[in-house]
Amino acid sequence: MGGLFEGKKGLILGVANDHSIAWSIAQQVMAGGGVCGFTHLPDRADDERQRNRRRVAMLTDPCSSAKFLVPLDVSSDEQIQAVMDRAAKEFGKIDFLLHAIAFASMEDLKGETIQTSRAGFLMAMEISAYSLLAVAKAARPILNENAAIATMTYFGGEKAVPGYNVMGICKAALDSIVKYLAYDLGPQKVRVNALSAGPVRTLAGRGAGVDGMLELYERMAPMGRNITDEEVGRTGAFLLSDMSNGITGETLHVDCGYNIMGSPGRLLDPLKK
Ligand SMILES: NC(=O)c1ccc[n+]([C@@H]2O[C@H](COP(=O)([O-])OP(=O)(O)OC[C@H]3O[C@@H](n4cnc5c(N)ncnc54)[C@H](O)[C@@H]3O)[C@@H](O)[C@H]2O)c1
Repeated sequence: MGGLFEGKKGLILGVANDHSIAWSIAQQVMAGGGVCGFTHLPDRADDERQRNRRRVAMLTDPCSSAKFLVPLDVSSDEQIQAVMDRAAKEFGKIDFLLHAIAFASMEDLKGETIQTSRAGFLMAMEISAYSLLAVAKAARPILNENAAIATMTYFGGEKAVPGYNVMGICKAALDSIVKYLAYDLGPQKVRVNALSAGPVRTLAGRGAGVDGMLELYERMAPMGRNITDEEVGRTGAFLLSDMSNGITGETLHVDCGYNIMGSPGRLLDPLKK
């Protein structure tokens, strides 16, 4: 990725720790010369140790390409605006924006989807889907011509993946938001795409049942293995870079081919006589 992001600046939303997909992507962007502003989930007022901030600061502090780290809860329009104001102050305009944010209550991920509470549904939708619209709207005035927005999605929004539940519904909404945003921002020469990753062991991934999926993917995906953090990082960087100019409104799967399967494939091999 050498030089791909030379002279480019942007925002990375959604790093929680070193396992976060947003961090894998940010590392590739910074290795390519990109300069980034980061956000972290705000700490609770009673958390004197500021654990959320510290976990991200541990990663960003040593990086000269990480220009700032500010709190962001995407359910607050004021906080979203404050992030954009900070980006405008530091960078003027931005060339890329990564949205790698999702949340649903464990309660709604454990049982049947039919049991999803009204409050749980609204919260999951607000944080995991609506937030992309809110962030894109607030970023609009500072998006450079040819800027790229990318978000993270999962196959559970396209097909029923038991256990993914309300998050699948959120991802279906998110996938649609990507297309409508791509249309709205097209005339401004801004692109919007989604990266659909196979299972990755992260905080959010664990909550959404990734541990049980890893073996299934290994046995069913055409490539017979799971994806690596670096593979997701490189494809995310591709979508945020000029290398993907001409691609918008797209969902790009990085899942070793799992999504193309119409049968369990080699998973059936042990059953064959
Ligand atoms: N891990 C996987 O297997 C996988 C697969 C496909 C897609 N994804 C998606 O990738 C994205 C990143 O998740 P991850 O797996 O890296 O896990 P992660 O837990 O590292 O990242 C999720 C991020 O969302 C942030 N977040 C949650 N609520 C927020 C709020 N109200 N305001 C602002 N930020 C908030 C968290 O702070 C965290 O940084 C998510 O959209 C997730 O659905 C993950």
